[in-house]
Amino acid sequence: MAKYNKLAGKHIVVIGGSGGIGRGVVEAALESHARVTLAGSSQQSADAAVASIKAEYPSAQLVGLGCDLSHSTIEQDLETLLTRAAALSGEIDHIVYTAADNLTLGKLEELTPDVALKAAHMRFLAPVMVGKVAQRHLQGAVNGSPGRGGKDKSLVLTTGSIASKPSPGWSIIAYFAGGINALTRNLALDLSPIRVNAVEPGIVNTGLWDSPDKTAQEREAALQTMCQRLPVGKPAAVEEVAEAYMYLLRDSNATGETVQTRGGHQLI
Ligand SMILES: NC(=O)c1ccc[n+]([C@@H]2O[C@H](COP(=O)([O-])OP(=O)(O)OC[C@H]3O[C@@H](n4cnc5c(N)ncnc54)[C@H](OP(=O)(O)O)[C@@H]3O)[C@@H](O)[C@H]2O)c1
Repeated sequence: MAKYNKLAGKHIVVIGGSGGIGRGVVEAALESHARVTLAGSSQQSADAAVASIKAEYPSAQLVGLGCDLSHSTIEQDLETLLTRAAALSGEIDHIVYTAADNLTLGKLEELTPDVALKAAHMRFLAPVMVGKVAQRHLQGAVNGSPGRGGKDKSLVLTTGSIASKPSPGWSIIAYFAGGINALTRNLALDLSPIRVNAVEPGIVNTGLWDSPDKTAQEREAALQTMCQRLPVGKPAAVEEVAEAYMYLLRDSNATGETVQTRGGHQLI
């Protein structure tokens, strides 16, 4: 077995792997010779992501599955997703959760309970349900398999730098992001020996920042302006922040940790 390339041959499920940061994690895992299942919000988006990734990595061991997490059946939907992933590509070693819907909250003074609860579905409820369902699957106690009881397995969640660096207009997202940091630490105790960690990115150039009134070039220009004051002077690329996930998947001594990759945002 490789001493440092610990992900070779492992089965990694990336929920949110069809786009943005998750897609970067999928590509990094494939370059580490892992077997990967990516999940998108639909089978169509998962298939499209698999086709374009396979164009770049023709020998990739990659499967795409659709799973829309926006419904009240989220626990059963996650259960079905992980059961199908294990049936198609074998016992799951690691789960990475990067899925999120767009940031459409607007200003606090205009926030309604309905809008806040809708935003809470993907950023509050979904990570908790991922933890619950991941526990069963990473323990290997599904389909009658004895599994390895969670040893050498891990879950990586995604938070954001707003958790540790407040910014006007971001109160509710800061609340969810800070909650994911606390959830990560506590799940690390509840799911032990399964390791549970999180990545806290700063501003990353992804479709999360898309809006109907902006072209892709306008989005890039707006992000560049937002990031001018950062020590790195630019938004992060997904291939940069994907490294934080790779680290947490590899280091079997890391649990309950949040790894930050913020372009120096904490310094200004
Ligand atoms: N980008 C940033 O600047 C930034 C900064 C800090 C933290 N973060 C956090 O990082 C995480 C990933 O963000 P990102 O920038 O990678 O976002 P993104 O580019 O918008 O990608 C979002 C992913 O989530 C999936 N998704 C959306 N709605 C879904 C649903 N209902 N069910 C299942 N999957 C769904 C998408 O799948 P489809 O494409 O298949 O629909 C896509 O794979 C989020 O938690 C975000 O808050 C991002």
